[in-house]
Amino acid sequence: MTLLLDPRQRAMLAEMGVRTDFLPAASSDVPAAGASAEVAPAKVHRSETRHQPATPQAPSSPSAHPLASLAASAVSEMDWDALAQSVRECQACGLCKTRKNTVFGVGAPAAGPGLAPRADWLIVGEAPGENEDLQGEPFVGQAGRLLDNMLKALGLSRQAQGAPEASVYILNVLKCRPPGNRNPQPEELLQCAPFLERQVALLQPKIIVAMGRFAMQSLLKDTVPQVESMPLGKLRGQIYSYRGIPVVVTYHPAYLLRSLAEKAKAWADLCLALSRARRPQD
Ligand code: URA
Repeated sequence: MTLLLDPRQRAMLAEMGVRTDFLPAASSDVPAAGASAEVAPAKVHRSETRHQPATPQAPSSPSAHPLASLAASAVSEMDWDALAQSVRECQACGLCKTRKNTVFGVGAPAAGPGLAPRADWLIVGEAPGENEDLQGEPFVGQAGRLLDNMLKALGLSRQAQGAPEASVYILNVLKCRPPGNRNPQPEELLQCAPFLERQVALLQPKIIVAMGRFAMQSLLKDTVPQVESMPLGKLRGQIYSYRGIPVVVTYHPAYLLRSLAEKAKAWADLCLALSRARRPQD
């Protein structure tokens, strides 16, 4: 992998509290692919994004629920515009009663009518917070600024136009804000799962970064046994798969704002993702 950090990027990362001195300098200024695997296993973090329960739960499978399977079959046929419309109109769970806006996602412009944006990177967060609910866009608060700065240090942006390798699409597992920013509930995750699945199918990113426990559980529940009881720190440093697309797990930016010491680990995770995204496709 050839991640070269220029002085501006180093300064930006330093300002974010991310150490870069462990990276090789100058010509080999590159974290080795899989460098994050060398990071010591993290502690169990109970309060990573919001108010995590002792045993957060993700539903075992969307098809386990009749309503969700009905929605899933319709949603799985939709193009990008129909999907966005369907999210805007969704009333499948109680969150529709308290939301101000649905939050579908943000990133490069759609590639054409009905077509998904072209972005090599997909960032998956948890759920809209207050600002996101008001603005209808994910990660627009303080956590979003941190996320944007980390992405910028990798040469990536949610505003990139026409360069898929520099483009990021950002979305959440839940499209509506849980009141008071409480944790997503199993039923809400279940009802929203078909939207996430269809978004990924249409976007076809080269890499997915799952930020936080609920993103991790939603994306890995079919491939990692007992993921709902595993601490996020245990799953870092490896590449997983969601519907054939590589997935890297990392800490949620809101958690990083409170746990400065973990920023270096999140940076290592993003470097791992970068090395995977740049690898020739299998
Ligand atoms: N946290 C998330 O997980 N997503 C957002 O959009 C904002 C905060």
